[in-house]
Amino acid sequence: MKGIILAGGSGTRLHPATLVVNKQLLPVYDKPMIYYPLSALMLAGIREILIISSPEYLPHYRTLFGDGSALGLQIAYAEQPRPEGLPQAFTIGREWIAGAPVALVLGDNIFFGNGLSSMLRRAVARIQEGGGATIFSYRVDDPERYGVIAFDAEGRAVSIEEKPEQPLSNHAITGLYVFDAEVCDHAATLTPSPRGELEITDLARRYMDTGTLHVEAMGRGFAWLDTGTHDSLLEAAEFVRTIQHRQGIQIACLEEIAYLQGFITRDAAETRGKALAKTAYSRAILTAIDEAPTPLPFGERRTGDRRRG
Ligand code: TTP
Repeated sequence: MKGIILAGGSGTRLHPATLVVNKQLLPVYDKPMIYYPLSALMLAGIREILIISSPEYLPHYRTLFGDGSALGLQIAYAEQPRPEGLPQAFTIGREWIAGAPVALVLGDNIFFGNGLSSMLRRAVARIQEGGGATIFSYRVDDPERYGVIAFDAEGRAVSIEEKPEQPLSNHAITGLYVFDAEVCDHAATLTPSPRGELEITDLARRYMDTGTLHVEAMGRGFAWLDTGTHDSLLEAAEFVRTIQHRQGIQIACLEEIAYLQGFITRDAAETRGKALAKTAYSRAILTAIDEAPTPLPFGERRTGDRRRG
């Protein structure tokens, strides 16, 4: 399974903060926004990652992550000349995807909750074994702002609509999607919606119509935050700060996750931890090393592991 982070967009709702900075580089409390969606892919066990952003901002991501080896990842980069819709990830990324199943996460989405890693790993395994697509739904109070999915009495998905004026349910589709290798062919045949964009909801509907769409509901124990407006950005930062202070953990500490997943060695984690000294982020890396002296081989989990989402 490969993973794509879509980190372009125009960020107009965050102007003037995003006039010269890409939205996904803004901090959410103590780390760049893109750390959060990247952590979700890493927790799913995905190590080959493509970051897509606009041509002017892509160099910043290269500076931030390089080839990904410091995190035990292989990170590649691709340009999206204009933000013409989420499914472009699969036309821009087609060669890089090279016929593999692929997860897509939006660069401004934050996921947190107990059991997140296992939920993501389950979704990855399901697609790898049986194909199809998995999307994640989340109950919201204002569904008209999102893609909305509605179910029949048996719980089967029966309708998917993008930003409907009259939503058929309160279940929004989050910015995390797992697709089989067919997705590139489907994406290539989509046409723009009336608002001029290719729509991810049209892509999901293709799978729904063939009975191969799986919907995982993220329940009350999960937080799904998007950070596209000034208020939601501040709320997300407050959420991260509250959890981190209260529990003394880090959300989306990439080196900690990489170490606990067995992606990087103890020495590599320690070097990064020391380089970022004087921060809670650094302390989380060094604590992880103390508490879990040897990382596990890829795919194995430690019992009682305090893995962070
Ligand atoms: P949006 O919130 O739809 O758009 P935006 O980021 O351009 O912001 P605004 O509405 O304020 O102008 O995008 C959701 C996420 O997807 C965000 O992380 C940016 C990313 N994105 C792309 O990278 N390319 C695209 O073509 C689109 C539509 C979004």
